[in-house]
Amino acid sequence: MRTWPTDRVAFGGDYNPEQWPREVWDDDIALMTQAGVSFVTLGVFAWAHLEPEKGRHDFEWLDEVLERLARAEIAVDLATGTATPPPWLSRAHPEILPVDRDGHTLWPGSRQAWCPSDQLFRSHALALTTALAERYHDHPALAMWHVGNEFACHNIPCYCDTCAVGFRTWLRARHTHLDALNEAWGTSFWSQRYTHWDEILPPRRTTTFANPTQVLDYRRFQSDTLLDHYLAERDILHEVSPGVPVTTNFMTMHHFRELDYHRWAPHQDVVSTDHYVVASLEHPRHELAFSGDLTRGLAGGRPWVLMEHSTSAVNWQPVNPAKRPGQTIRDSLTHVAHGADTVGYFQWRASTAGSEKFHSALVPHAGADSERFREVARLGGVLGRLGELVGSRVEADVALIWDFEAQWAVGGPGMPSGGGLDYPLAAHTIHRLLLDRGVACDVLAPGAPLTGYAVVVVPTTYLLSDDEAALIAQAADAGADVLVTFFSGISTRDDHVRLGGYPGALRELLGVRVEEFFPLLAGESVALAPTGGGHTWSEWLTVGADTEVLAHYGDGPLAGRPAVTRRAVGAGHATYVSTLPDDEALGLLLDRVLSSAGVVGQAGASERVEVVRRVSAEKSWLFVLNHSAEPVTLNVPIGWDLVEQRQVSGELTLPPDGCAVIRERVAT
Ligand code: GLA
Ligand code: ZN
Repeated sequence: MRTWPTDRVAFGGDYNPEQWPREVWDDDIALMTQAGVSFVTLGVFAWAHLEPEKGRHDFEWLDEVLERLARAEIAVDLATGTATPPPWLSRAHPEILPVDRDGHTLWPGSRQAWCPSDQLFRSHALALTTALAERYHDHPALAMWHVGNEFACHNIPCYCDTCAVGFRTWLRARHTHLDALNEAWGTSFWSQRYTHWDEILPPRRTTTFANPTQVLDYRRFQSDTLLDHYLAERDILHEVSPGVPVTTNFMTMHHFRELDYHRWAPHQDVVSTDHYVVASLEHPRHELAFSGDLTRGLAGGRPWVLMEHSTSAVNWQPVNPAKRPGQTIRDSLTHVAHGADTVGYFQWRASTAGSEKFHSALVPHAGADSERFREVARLGGVLGRLGELVGSRVEADVALIWDFEAQWAVGGPGMPSGGGLDYPLAAHTIHRLLLDRGVACDVLAPGAPLTGYAVVVVPTTYLLSDDEAALIAQAADAGADVLVTFFSGISTRDDHVRLGGYPGALRELLGVRVEEFFPLLAGESVALAPTGGGHTWSEWLTVGADTEVLAHYGDGPLAGRPAVTRRAVGAGHATYVSTLPDDEALGLLLDRVLSSAGVVGQAGASERVEVVRRVSAEKSWLFVLNHSAEPVTLNVPIGWDLVEQRQVSGELTLPPDGCAVIRERVAT
């Protein structure tokens, strides 16, 4: 297999030459070389150019582009071009179009207008994939195949009749018998009992709340159906183009919630993702770091590909702030710090027309004579010097459980706090406080092995199977400090509430019993004694004889009752937090857990400065990233800064948004 990431930190992005006349192509290659671009992703939305009419291919332009890139030694991540069908296909077969919850067809004229279950669409996509693979499998520029693009970004859930049929097939495979489905969905409630498979529909718009397990199964089905599509294209590529890695770009971003990447990741030869900073988030830079740690978890700890991010503004937020000078490089290096060995952007050259004409690019509208392009070229230089750390890893003492299914279920119908409890909140808050303490964290699936982690965080892990709960308990028993937050271990994987007091799956481990939830209103808080306060959630809690109460509720209906507890379990501990404490209170609790587990963060890390280490067998590199608009001074070890190419030791001052990547003299 050709290897990707390449032997350097690959640098480049989406290249869409079909939008430009050929004169521009020469300039493109010259500028790519000048900026140190080493790879491009080609042809993502080029179907209409590659197959202008049914079965007639036009590969001449792509031959020419590939030829030029090969001559310039720029590696190509070649797309299968199937992300968006051309107008001739949807005109001939409008049945391929997706349908929303209300039965409205989503018409062409934008992108990704295809139903995930439609076999005719799939056969056309597979034919194009085959034609491309046959033509280019041994092309010298080809380094990786890129299937589709950001699966599910726009076209699911689809509620069409084809999906209804597909759903029934998927349900038969999952539940085998109708009785089992009735049991799993709890259809004795509200007269929903099914007597024939054909009665089952997608969860289209209903009079009021839909059946939550039906909704959950539908999300699983839609994710699996797109995965099937991915696998169909991938299998062709593996067969016709053996030895070339295949990937598709995930979207490990806060606002994207459609796919269960834990099911997708094992089928990627290389895990890749896209990430865009969302200006309206309260802690955008922490969300970026979380995305990196989640992607590293999906990649099994191995380096991963950052396929897309932006040099500056995007064009799809209500207001799209530009990045400050320095931020382009700093944001890229933040992804590298968390394990990326490829730094890719959308897109090479800013378009003059189309929906994304105001999205930033490596070459902005102003052209190469611009501060942004000069920063891009500086970044190319820095990444060129980072080749020595390719393949190195991030070592973490803390594991944090992340579950895409729990995210769906917590966002499902009829929950205790549907508007107030967002699944990522507890995970992101704890991850952020760890990051500010310089503590590296692996983000893992429930059910992932936990051996070797000193601390295991279980945040709002609402669905847990018996086996998954047992793994968490075993980790505590073996010596880990397990920290569980509210609304974890409540339901089975079919979303049936476990009885006898919450959290049924973890009650014994934690030595607590929750009789009732007391969710808090937006803006409402509850005092904690001895100090601090909580928000979002609270619970009526009783504790067992060997459970220590670390904090009580200080006011409101739960005044005097336990809020935060801790229990010795085997060689470890289990801590329970029944509310979301404010940063200060939660920080103190984390400090206690970390010190009991012997975890020490990187010196110098703070709310403004991120400090992350990557290690290989012989060397280590310390990333020091200033995420503020002010200069910062901190103590660093003796070493060589690959960013500014200078010796450093002791006090180091970084400019606003500045960064250092220090090759440490002694590997740690
Ligand atoms: C996604 C897509 C790109 C582009 C960018 C814009 O990542 O894959 O084609 O639309 O968003 O931010
Ligand atoms: Zn459909």
